[in-house]
Amino acid sequence: MRTLKNILVTGGAGFIGCNFIRLLLEKTPEFTGRIVNLDALTYAGNSASLRDIERRFGGARYLFERGDICDRAFVETLFRKYDIDTVVHFAAESHVDRSILGPEAFVKTNVLGTFTLLEAARAAWKTGGMRQDVVFHHVSTDEVYGSLGETGYFTETTPYDPRSPYSASKASSDHLVMAYFHTYGLPITMSNCSNNYGPYQFPEKLIPLMILNMREGKPLPVYGDGKNIRDWVYVEDHNNAVWTIMRKGVTGEKYNIGGENEWENITLLQSLIAIVSEKAKLDPAKVRGTISYVKDRPGHDRRYAMDCTKIKRGLAWRQGVSFEEGLERTVDWYLENNAWVDGIRSGEYQSWVEKNYGDRG
Ligand code: NAD
Ligand code: DAU
Repeated sequence: MRTLKNILVTGGAGFIGCNFIRLLLEKTPEFTGRIVNLDALTYAGNSASLRDIERRFGGARYLFERGDICDRAFVETLFRKYDIDTVVHFAAESHVDRSILGPEAFVKTNVLGTFTLLEAARAAWKTGGMRQDVVFHHVSTDEVYGSLGETGYFTETTPYDPRSPYSASKASSDHLVMAYFHTYGLPITMSNCSNNYGPYQFPEKLIPLMILNMREGKPLPVYGDGKNIRDWVYVEDHNNAVWTIMRKGVTGEKYNIGGENEWENITLLQSLIAIVSEKAKLDPAKVRGTISYVKDRPGHDRRYAMDCTKIKRGLAWRQGVSFEEGLERTVDWYLENNAWVDGIRSGEYQSWVEKNYGDRG
């Protein structure tokens, strides 16, 4: 078991990263170290997501550093300044639709950014031989494996077959991380996870977008025939798995994480309509009437489904939150946190939606 003291979290102001920081500082008594959150605060990063954490843990156990993971000199300074012994790398451009509209930022952050972090870790951790009491955990996605037919599951040995600029850039970063283990002996672990949902997710992603559009009486845009399948996992279950791998995972190994919870988009949307209608006192028939089938996403992967046997057997991880419970918690959170929603949707995001999606519906 690794003892992790000074953790550099990249992308900690984003959806999964901010939930990870909360998990460690609020619910993980065995973690007594400190967290340095390195985030560029792009459109997807939000310092409001950690304002209370800043108040309670700031200065001693939580530090925020605004910066770009592609900035080698800055990243190297952080390794020295905070004596970093652990990296958990969440920072990325994460939205598939944006990668289709503008792939360059994905190559920069996901490929060059990961490369820069690896180089900084290699330089900082090579004191004579490579230190082995440190770990670089890379957070990746099931999308690197491509698309499944009606049957079968992705395992850790499924060949990579990325289809979108997003997944291709994540696949490249995965290969670099593995190459640094094999070539330089950098102690790495890696995880590939399925679709996350929960609080603080940027409302361009399916679940929060639909919740907020329902509340506001806007159309619910379903891509293609609505029968694409995703495997949904609650964000805290994903983060528990990441933490488990960081402490107990075998160096140089990758682990699949998923919800084992497959839904067609349209069926998921029907469940969400039932929950939101009840909680927000809406007429479900009226809300169903706002479903709008729109042009499909180019290269839209049909089905993702994870085989989680390796992490379950090897590291005794289990999902803890049922889909029913997770969706209820998520809907409650979005309905109760108007200030967060208004903040993140103002300005840049709103004009981006109007520019790119003004004609859909
Ligand atoms: P997100 O878009 O919500 O957050 C990304 C964060 O990274 C933001 O805070 C952003 O400001 C920061 N960032 C972006 N570019 C940066 C740069 N150049 N330098 C520093 N910070 C930068 O993403 P998320 O959904 O929280 O995803 C986190 C990670 O998990 C990503 O690596 C993603 O590929 C992976 N992942 C996500 C999911 C999912 O369902 N959301 C599933 C599997 C894996
Ligand atoms: O599988 C893991 C991946 O899940 C992560 O690596 C990505 O970072 C994350 O964004 C997510 O990718 P998806 O493309 O699966 O998520 P998204 O929420 O964009 O879409 C989920 C499904 O819903 C997908 O089949 C497309 C569809 N969809 C999405 C949107 C935004 C719609 O039908 N309508 C929509 O408006």
